[in-house]
Order: sequence, then C-alpha cells, then structure tokens
Amino acid sequence: MAIYFDRTTKTFYLEGKDITYAFFINKYGFAEHLYFGKRISRDTLLHLRATGGEVASATVPGNVYNAPFCSYQQFPAELSFFGTGYFNEPTVHLLNAEGDRLTELLYDGYEILDEKPQMKTMPSMRGGKTLKLKLRDYATDFCAELYYTVYDDVSVIARRVVYRNERSEAVKLERAYSFTLSLPDMKRDVISFYGAWASERQIQRTPMHHGVISVDSKVSRSTHLNPSMVIATSNANEEHGEAIGIALMYSSHFVLKAEGLPNGAAQITGGINDFDFEWTLEEGEELETPEVIIAYSDEGIGGMSRELHDAAREYIIDKKFVKKSRPIVINNWEGTYFDFNAEKLKAIADGVRGTGVDTFVLDDGWFGKRNNDRCALGDWWVNEEKLPGGLDAIISHVNSLGMKFGLWFEPEMISEDSDIYRAHPEYAIKAPLRKNCYSRQQFVMDITRADVRDYIVDSVNSILDSHNIEYVKWDYNRHATELYSALLPKDRQSEFAHRYALALYELCERIIKTHPQVFFEGCAGGGGRFDYGMLYYFPQIWTSDDSDAHERTHIQYGTSIIYPMSAMSCHVSAVPNHQTGRSTDMKTRADIAHLGATGYELDTSSFTDDDRNVTRGQVEEYRKHEELILSGDLYRLENPFESNFFAFMAVSKDKGNAILTAYRALGGVNREIYRIKPRGLDKSKKYFVPELNLILGGDTLMNAGLIPPFEDGDFKTVTYHFEEK
Ligand code: GLA
Repeated sequence: MAIYFDRTTKTFYLEGKDITYAFFINKYGFAEHLYFGKRISRDTLLHLRATGGEVASATVPGNVYNAPFCSYQQFPAELSFFGTGYFNEPTVHLLNAEGDRLTELLYDGYEILDEKPQMKTMPSMRGGKTLKLKLRDYATDFCAELYYTVYDDVSVIARRVVYRNERSEAVKLERAYSFTLSLPDMKRDVISFYGAWASERQIQRTPMHHGVISVDSKVSRSTHLNPSMVIATSNANEEHGEAIGIALMYSSHFVLKAEGLPNGAAQITGGINDFDFEWTLEEGEELETPEVIIAYSDEGIGGMSRELHDAAREYIIDKKFVKKSRPIVINNWEGTYFDFNAEKLKAIADGVRGTGVDTFVLDDGWFGKRNNDRCALGDWWVNEEKLPGGLDAIISHVNSLGMKFGLWFEPEMISEDSDIYRAHPEYAIKAPLRKNCYSRQQFVMDITRADVRDYIVDSVNSILDSHNIEYVKWDYNRHATELYSALLPKDRQSEFAHRYALALYELCERIIKTHPQVFFEGCAGGGGRFDYGMLYYFPQIWTSDDSDAHERTHIQYGTSIIYPMSAMSCHVSAVPNHQTGRSTDMKTRADIAHLGATGYELDTSSFTDDDRNVTRGQVEEYRKHEELILSGDLYRLENPFESNFFAFMAVSKDKGNAILTAYRALGGVNREIYRIKPRGLDKSKKYFVPELNLILGGDTLMNAGLIPPFEDGDFKTVTYHFEEK
C-alpha cells in the first residue's frame, strides 16, 4: 500500500491491495480524476485526458477560450461543484453570505498521513494510509478536505470530506455529499437494493443512462432498502467483469446517485441526503461527512463482495467480536410475543438445555406495563407483575443452565401511554400545529436533545450495570415523522435528520462502548437499519423479521452483496412461518439460518428429547463450520432471484476447508438434472467430501460439479463439506 505524489505531473497515486486510484492537479488547480481500477504501474496517465466539446462549455472563470482543456465541465472531478462551469451533479452546494450559491474548489495543498484520523462525530474505518487533499474556494475561504484511505490487504478505498468555513461570515450548506467518483464510461449497470419491512434488500439491476439514477432515505434511518450500490460493467456477473461496490457508513437520511454524463462518462456521488437538509457553518466551524467505502474487483460482483466483506471484518466491525464464536440464542419473541411470565420464560430456556444454545434473549415486553405494543416504551424498569423477583430471578435461572442472558431494548422510542411520556411529553419528536403519525402506536424520541440522550443513557446503563446481562438487542421499530426539534432554532430545523444520526452515534458510544464485555445486536423492525455505521457498533444485525427460510434465501442473498455473512443474524423459527404461513423442514430452516450468525426463535418449552437431539446436532454442526461463516470467503453459486435454486459456499482463506449449502425452492417430477459447480477451492488440492465419502480434486469439483440429491418435495437443502486431504 502506498500513496505517492509525482511532483512533475502533479499526480497522486493511491495503491491498495490490487487497486490504483489516480488523479492530478491540473493547470487551473482542479483535482482531475485519471483512473480507478485494477492495480497498474505508476506510469504517467495524462494521455487519458479526453478532449472535445469544449467550445460549447463555459470556460474556466476568468480565462478566455483557449482549447483544449479550458472548461471544468471537461474534467472528471474528484469533488464536483456548482455554478462556475461544472454542470454535472455537484457534491457540494451552499449559500454564501453574499447570497450567491457558487463554489470553485481548487487545490490548496495536501498531507500524507501514516494513520487515518478517526472521525470525531461519526464512525469510520480504522487504520490505513491516508491522503488529505485540501481544496479551497479562494473567493470565500470555504474549504473541503478530502480524505482518501487505502489498505494493503483489501481492494477498498475509503473516502470522506470535511467542509470548513474559514471566513467570518456564516455559510449555509444545502448539500454536503461525501465523494465524487468519476468513471470513464457509462456502459455499466447500477445494482441497488429496495425493500420494505420483512422484505429487505431485494435486488434491482438497471443500465446506467444519461441522467441520474438515485436511491435515498427520508425517514431517519437507512431503511429496509440500503445505503449502498454496485456499479458493474454490463457484462459483469458473479465471477467475471468489473464491479465497484459503494457503501455509506451512515444510518440516517442518505442519497446515492449514479449519473450518465453527456460525454458518455459517468459520475457517482452521495452521502447525507440533501433533501430536507441544511447546515450552517459559522466562522471556523466544520462539518464531517459520512465515510464511503468503495471496493473494486475485476472478478465480478462476487469478487467485489469479498473485498467489502474483508474490509468490514478487518477495519469496521469490532475486533473483539467479529471473528469470535458468536452467541447462539434462543429468543422468546416469536415463541410468546407479549404473552409470557417468568415460568414460561424459564420453560423456554429449559427446553434447549444441553443443546449448545448458549444465550437466552428476553425480547420485548419485560418492562413498564408493556403487555402489548401500544404502551410503555421508555419505561425502562422491570415489570415485576410478570417477572416477580425482577430480572435477577430469570437471569439466575438462565445462568444456572449454563447460559448467558440477553435483553431487548428500543432505546430511541417512547409510547404515548407511558409514565415517561406523561412526565415528559416533550421527549417525543413532534411539530407545532400538527398531530403526530402513529406507527406501531409509538413515537420516536427527539434524541437531538441532550436531556433525552441523558435519560436514555441513564435508563439503559442502569439496567446493564445492575444485572448480569451479556447480550443486548437494540431495536428501532418505526420511521420517524414530524421531523422537528423544539430546541433547534427555526432556521436550523433542516439539520434535524443529520443531528439524529450524530445523536444516535453518541448514544452508541455512551452505552455500547462503555460496556465492552456486552455483545450488542442491532435491529430495526427487522433489517431497517442495516448499514456500516451501525455495524461499527453491532457485530451483527437482525436481518429481517421475515424468518421464513425461502424468503430468507432472497434477503440473505441481497444482503450479502454488501455485508458479510457474520453480520447477518438469522433464526430458526416455528412452522407454519408466522410471516408467510409457509412450512419448511427444520433441516431447511437450520441450513439457511446457519449461513449467518445463527439462533433459534420459537417456543421451545414443549421441546421433546428428540427435538433437543435435533437441535444439539444442528448446533454442533454449526460450531464446526462457524469459522467459515465468520472469516471465510463467500461464493454465491446460485441466485434465488433468477432461478429455483439458491446456493452459498464459504471457503477458508487457505482454501483447506469449505461448506456449500444448496437449496431448491420447488420440487417437481421429471425435472432437468441440476448440477452445481463449487468455486473458490484450490484446483491442485484434494478434498474429502464426507457426504459422498470420496476424495476429489479441487479441479474435478470445480469443473465437473456436483449433483445435489435433493429429497422430494419443496424447500429442500443439501449441504456439502470439503476438507483438504
Ligand atoms: C421488531 C423486531 C423483532 C422483535 C419485535 C419486538 O419487530 O424486529 O425481532 O424484537 O420488534 O417488538
């Protein structure tokens, strides 16, 4: 890994594992992009500048026509701006003290830093050599500092911008994106994710076109779609072609835009959503923008995912937990919903005794008068009517079974029917003159207020500090509406959504980081806040409230494009499935859940010895291959969005060990023979395949393939193991 500046050509070369990123400072001081892609020699790249079409464009301000290269519009940008001759999507847009909205951000120096500075207000990737490029609008002393970080073990570049006002007059930012990524052509597809509750991260692939393709959120969380995008060459598939993955480390209103430009080039921008956004910078103030992680591979979308997964595991997710054996939970939610008492909970924990399930998680309903979802959020004291002896009684029972205890919170929420709301109605987000929208009968707390944050931190921490709680599930069950804070001045209300994100990260710092021994799982009405901002704090996130195995093949497939398997919390639940009504075998449910951080979520109080034996076998099997889920390379062999099949394969880094799980949705009679080809093995190694009781070459396996013997019927799985011999 290296960052190198060639003083003669004024070119910066940033070199990561197998990538080069290069730009230069042109004669006007414009940071002009040259190349991003596979690692190349440190050659001059100035011959890549495209000429043509300047006449119709505006000249660089103050310069008479002097072709070629006399217009900002001709230059692929490192940071696009507005109103001074650059006509594509600007990365930054502001209101100057004079009332103009112009910027012209030009070179003002650089620094090369051995260690990447962590962001002050938001989570960011760790480590990595970093280039800090300073751009300045010389007319107004408005500055943009662009950070670029590269790593020698992943083909990923992390980028962000810090905007600073160095003038005595205030400036109002109306857009403050995190990056501009210039691409030489638009013969590419945009892969983005859409979704809703219980149907997260469905995949959409659209050819780029002239104009903008955009995805965003306006609901105070990153939502059931996702703050990410893949830009793939039109011919790219899982194995071949170029793919660039773009993931924002951000958990509130975001936007990502892919723009096809008039000259056939392309530009990607994004960050904090500028819809309903303004941010005032007084003299000397700065605004940090969320980091964007940009991964590259010429080995298809699969190769790109593996780079992102490695980057996340090495540089984002908490080192203490990311590759450590995970808790395997029994969660009572789908087993009881609100209808439980201490005896019932104990019986559920007893039901899995001796199976290897090692953590009992008490979900919603343990606090205040919370007997349904219409009340008590915010009343974070135990309901002793339901749980006589308090949490300690149930915790000691769980501990006596050799299990850890986990607890559910929804810290950012408040019920209208709660003691805390009756005492402090001002804690809820609400706008003057308007009635609030209800969603799940609850309101969102205005965590942009310091008093609300203090209340949340004190309530949650006092429970954690006074009980033996080793696991927390942190939920967030609704979109925010009526975005308004009584404590923000009228002309700063459009800062609300970003202030919400900053407040959320502060809560995580004050609750999660002060309990380093507790394992925190994220959740947001299923996977409504599944992003790298949250994964910095939560090693895993509940992937979806839809726990149906068939649906999960789609949701986990879509999620895996950007996020590692170890980040996906997946549970075996009851049948018929509570969300879809579908029945699938226990084996199928476990095989699909075992492709993530597995667990169980059903009423196990009536488990028989046979059920326990089955569960014990599943847990033992999971523990055997868990290392592959936590640290292995993922190969997506079959796409359930496009076929009747789904298959994931996880291969150890040394290629000595692998697991392949194949799934067939619908069975049938006299169907074509289904053959699957493993990938990622070492072609020169020999592997023992216990399911076949054969030793086969990696070359034979990967070229001749396998024919999985699915049982008759629908929703069946077959698993293979590969052990180097
Ligand atoms: C959300 C979560 C569920 C469960 C319920 C409890 O829907 O996604 O897993 O915790 O809330 O109310």
